[in-house]
Amino acid sequence: MSADYQVQNNVAVITLNNPPVNGLGLATRTAAVEALQLAEADPMVKAIVITGAGKAFSGGADIREFNSPKALTEPTLHTLIRTAEGSSKPVVAAIHSVCMGGGLELALGCNYRVALPGAQIALPEVKLGLLPGAGGTQRLPRVIGLEAALDMIVSGNPVSSEKLAGSLFDEVFPAGTDLVAAAVDFANKMAEVRRPGAPPLPKVRERKVEHADAQGFLDAARARVKAAAGAFPAPLECVETIAASVNMPFEEGCKFERSRFIHLTQTVESKALRHAFFAERAAGKVPDVPSDTPVREIGSAAVIGAGTMGGGIAMNFANAGIPVTILETKQEALDKGLATIRKNYENTVKKGKLAPEKFEQRMGLVKGSLDYADIAQADIVIEAVFEDMGVKESVFRRLDQVMRPGAILASNTSTLDLNKIASFTSRPQDVIGLHFFSPANVMKLLEIVRGAQTGKDVLATALALSKKLKKIGVVSGVCDGFIGNRMVEQYIRQAGFLLDEGALPQQVDRAIEGFGFAMGPFRMGDLAGNDIGWAIRKRRALEMPEVAYSKTADLLCEAGRFGQKTGGGWYDYQAGDRTPHPSQWVDEMIVQHSKDLGIQRREIADQEIVERLVYALVNEGAKILEEGIALRASDIDMVYLTGYGFPLYRGGPMFHADTVGLANVLAAIEKYGRAYHGEAWKPASLLQRLAAEGRGFNS
Ligand code: NAI
Repeated sequence: MSADYQVQNNVAVITLNNPPVNGLGLATRTAAVEALQLAEADPMVKAIVITGAGKAFSGGADIREFNSPKALTEPTLHTLIRTAEGSSKPVVAAIHSVCMGGGLELALGCNYRVALPGAQIALPEVKLGLLPGAGGTQRLPRVIGLEAALDMIVSGNPVSSEKLAGSLFDEVFPAGTDLVAAAVDFANKMAEVRRPGAPPLPKVRERKVEHADAQGFLDAARARVKAAAGAFPAPLECVETIAASVNMPFEEGCKFERSRFIHLTQTVESKALRHAFFAERAAGKVPDVPSDTPVREIGSAAVIGAGTMGGGIAMNFANAGIPVTILETKQEALDKGLATIRKNYENTVKKGKLAPEKFEQRMGLVKGSLDYADIAQADIVIEAVFEDMGVKESVFRRLDQVMRPGAILASNTSTLDLNKIASFTSRPQDVIGLHFFSPANVMKLLEIVRGAQTGKDVLATALALSKKLKKIGVVSGVCDGFIGNRMVEQYIRQAGFLLDEGALPQQVDRAIEGFGFAMGPFRMGDLAGNDIGWAIRKRRALEMPEVAYSKTADLLCEAGRFGQKTGGGWYDYQAGDRTPHPSQWVDEMIVQHSKDLGIQRREIADQEIVERLVYALVNEGAKILEEGIALRASDIDMVYLTGYGFPLYRGGPMFHADTVGLANVLAAIEKYGRAYHGEAWKPASLLQRLAAEGRGFNS
């Protein structure tokens, strides 16, 4: 049953009932239309109330139907709304809670709307790269006014029902009112005033959008929205469609809305946003760890190392209200780490993003210590010491001795073998990787590294913890670099080879930033510190001497150019300023290095730069997928969208490859494989197979 029907005091009460949020899928629409027809036909029924069961009026259209024929199967959302609007009896929408998207559009098709305070009202379609496609852009401005409607539709943000009293809502009852009973009374009152000769029932479609200077306002809105929307077409389409509510008769406006909606559903940007929406929800699911797996209680935490990462990780716990102790070897390092945390919070207060009283509360949750005895009772400990197996070994042996049984022992290592780290303890089932990204108090991504022996309850606890810390947790198997850094390694290798062949750092960065990356590889290196990659390359040179890199990055580091922290890296920097300036020294070093290699430098097109960097990610991603390191292609996309600045409107590397077509991606990879350092381009067999079958990673 997806809509319940009941008659109370001569009023038909139709309750949308499709848990969890009464999405208006086909079955629900069918039941609602049938209920409306039943009410229309019953002479005892004087009026109709539409409401929602459970925790929502309606969360809107069922987005799983978007790319399926179901969305267009009758009764469509339009038909449902028109059935409500066409009723000869007063129809009242009674809203107690979430009323979004298609849910609000349905409410706008009713003659009256009543609500309880605190209900969340929104047209959030823009967040999926769409616009409200069932009359919302035409009806909302007619009810709440042009400016307020534009704000709601272009932002997609929810507004609390009490703020819409007197505009959207005919009545907002006091909190605690029995909404359905009050709505039934209200409906009866509206039915009573409908004696013969009374004016017809009010319909939103018959109203006009009132505004003193609608065209002036719309022009200003176009300019403002266009500037803010970047690569996304939907916000401006929202403005144009809202403009139609002013400039066109209602039916024409609805047709225009429909055509723009259909256009947007076909855009890559909207497809990418919908992909990301589902990818985020899929990421928390691990097939052999069901959602009812017991989790361990995390009431206290400890962090080992108060450096760049340790401090940021500790802040995450304090932000979530979990007390955390940071352990260091020296008082000086501890003081420095704690001072950085304090300064970070102070800056947040200065920016007005943290209430001053919360500042002391957060700092009060962070303690420092030099003594393992102080952390022994913690429920979880996260190690963030130097990226060196020897140091990790001594820390984990110690943790194994001191931590209480059942405590989770986590490592923030970015590249090292988690199984080896686990083997330093007598409890490998309690060991897991929790790979945060820098700055750890800001970045959304948390790679959760599942060791060969990590317990299912430990994994389930880590997934639950990622939500508590407001992170997006993505599970990775064990390999050098896990999902994100293993892929970025190939991307950075290509960036280096491009320098040998003829490009300069600023050209590479500009090209990939033009593709939409937040930051190119060389600016990124300067920010993170080029010495980190240098150390990793030195280790790999011993483990995998056959893997070739451009030597330019080593030459850079040998000259002490580690990046922003040393005043120069791939770029020059002025004191206190993060603006990169092309460096003559670097450019000459690169050109000289090509000469030393005997390479005739050539003009490299931006398209080649973008393809080589992005397809290097894709090819390695495909290997990660076929090895089972990532559970699904969309997990890889989530890692890149939330941890590496991959442009959201392209949906992540694997989704982007699907958009380009895997046969095209493979052809490009084979072409690059015949050129400089072609051994870096060995195509993943999964890519070859899917390309041959005409499929995509996400299909
Ligand atoms: P860092 O050098 O800034 O901090 C390391 C801290 O650990 C120092 O304060 C040091 O005094 C302390 N320490 C060293 N040995 C210790 C021991 N035995 N006991 C207690 N404290 C000890 O290093 P960073 O950048 O914070 O990296 C830490 C870990 O996080 C590494 O495994 C790194 O690979 C990983 N990581 C780093 C990222 C970054 O962007 N910096 C990103 C993600 C992971």
